[in-house]
Amino acid sequence: MAAIRNIVILTGAGVSAESGIDTFRDSGGVWEQHRVEDVATPEAFARDRDLVLRFYDMRREAIQTRQPNAAHLALAKLQAQWPGRVTLVTQNVDDLHDRAAAALGVTAADLIHMHGEHLNAWCTACDVRSPWAGPLLDRPACPSCGEAALRPDIVWFGEMPYRMEEIFAALREADLFVSIGTSGAVYPAAGFVRNARDLGAATLELNLEPSQGSLWFDEARHGPATVVVPAWVEEMLAR
Ligand code: APR
Repeated sequence: MAAIRNIVILTGAGVSAESGIDTFRDSGGVWEQHRVEDVATPEAFARDRDLVLRFYDMRREAIQTRQPNAAHLALAKLQAQWPGRVTLVTQNVDDLHDRAAAALGVTAADLIHMHGEHLNAWCTACDVRSPWAGPLLDRPACPSCGEAALRPDIVWFGEMPYRMEEIFAALREADLFVSIGTSGAVYPAAGFVRNARDLGAATLELNLEPSQGSLWFDEARHGPATVVVPAWVEEMLAR
């Protein structure tokens, strides 16, 4: 590989699987237990608000009992120690990358939650996002404006992912793009590998199995995230 300075890493549900958080599309995954159109679209929220709020209240509660695993910790270590910039873009709405990063003093701006965060609530009346750990089903008041108009701060199907301009700016500067624990089924994230290639970056996939976008990667390593990610990080830091 040529000299690498700037790295963009995209993570998906596979990186949190070994922390006990269900992935979406594996056997027994979230989208086998619930239909996307019942719980993860703006139309579902308009149609049956209680069902949607109950679903996210359950998941918000569950992630708070989970802990970052060796993969989250290794990625935070890379971000803290790599001499260039490491931008971590996650599709995950849990806070396991955040907790791993906090322990190592990683710059918060270099962690991008493109699909939102379970631990935020978004007020549809005043547009302010507030940290939120409790339930939303009982229609609590927005801490900012007092209206009972909070929704999960989750990017639903049919909504625009967050911070796309920053992500593309990082991809333009990237020498290496790494995709970890994502099936490559959901755009625009699934297209980042091709954007990165077109912009001249080398590409690497770390996943349990070949993803849907596998053929776009220069190199792929298959295995559980808690094994392949720390091994790759140690290799990078030894370069
Ligand atoms: N280690 C590494 N990879 C794993 C592991 C593991 N322990 N367990 C599962 N995987 C891989 C699977 O093989 C699969 O390719 O992680 C991937 C998980 O894919 P999905 O369930 O589709 O999750 P993700 O790609 O993050 O989904 C993208 O879809 O529903 C939306 O908004 C949701 O952000 C999510 C998006």
